[in-house]
Amino acid sequence: MSRESREVIRVANIVKDFRPGFGLRRKRVLHGISFSVCEGEIFGFVGPNGAGKTTLLKVLMGLIRATAGEATILGCDVHETEFRRHIGFLPENPYFYDYLTGREILTFYAKLSGLPRAQRADRVALLLGWVGLSSAANARLRTYSKGMLQRVGIAQALVHDPSVVFLDEPMSGLDPIGRKEIRDLILRLRAEGKTVFMNTHILSDVEMVCDRVAIIVSGRITYEGAIEDFLEGDQRESDVVVAGLRPETGVQLEEKFGASLRGHGDRIEVRTADKNVNPMLGAILEAGGQVLSVTPHRVSLESIFLSAVEQDRADEKERER
Ligand SMILES: Nc1ncnc2c1ncn2[C@@H]1O[C@H](COP(=O)(O)OP(=O)(O)O)[C@@H](O)[C@H]1O
Ligand SMILES: [Mg+2]
Repeated sequence: MSRESREVIRVANIVKDFRPGFGLRRKRVLHGISFSVCEGEIFGFVGPNGAGKTTLLKVLMGLIRATAGEATILGCDVHETEFRRHIGFLPENPYFYDYLTGREILTFYAKLSGLPRAQRADRVALLLGWVGLSSAANARLRTYSKGMLQRVGIAQALVHDPSVVFLDEPMSGLDPIGRKEIRDLILRLRAEGKTVFMNTHILSDVEMVCDRVAIIVSGRITYEGAIEDFLEGDQRESDVVVAGLRPETGVQLEEKFGASLRGHGDRIEVRTADKNVNPMLGAILEAGGQVLSVTPHRVSLESIFLSAVEQDRADEKERER
């Protein structure tokens, strides 16, 4: 754990206002965002389109200035430049000169990042192999699929062997195979001890690769936590399928255990939010019911995400009144 305890990214009360145009009212896009990311972690910054993910990433990359608040990477204020040699960045829609080959574009970036000439060819060959593009190295980017371009983008972000990598929507627009390839690359970055910060709106990818997430909705963080807290946590509902349940027992389960009943006839599904289902099972058996199955449901990232978005819509309506 000691490896993961060092804070690599710190974001404190970041506010960002945009002025849409002269004389127009300013628009607040980030309302005081705070979180931190530790060394070796894959951190998912998750939210629906328009939530403010790219805006925050631009602040971290020093591309735009925050209206208020403070952000540091590797202990340096994001306005400094020296630490940038230690970070890599994959923008949301990377633009490549598509008449160049994969090898040429990576050589170009190797040069830009100041890698000595003698090391460039080896480094580029290593990266091409790493992202599975060795056999396409001499083909022009114009002929690459979206997934291959995304992998070139990741290779580009790694050309100078950074310790912290920032990825903006690395899996969006990819087919399932392309997404898996990117996921495997990200997991490999973690295996190498790198810290990864990733913007995304795709929940299944988050569950598969991230160690921790922050959910952002309309410029506010609504949830922050470790993935395992809700994948393995004990905060869960259970569905119990019962046969031979008498109506009066059903009523008792509703009143005593806050259960909700579904179905009819001999097969009733009883849902309870109680962590411990044993007392309820006891009551069912005692009343002559038969327990057919017990299925615990973990609280999914999706349900946290959806309820955050719903809450935001309700708040929005409230503000409009
Ligand atoms: N330069 C800008 N000027 C005005 N509004 C902007 C600008 N950039 C982004 N926005 C607005 O900020 C909000 C968040 O955008 P963005 O950070 O791109 O969201 P996400 O990456 O989560 O989809 C959106 O409503 C967007 O229209
Ligand atoms: Mg974005």
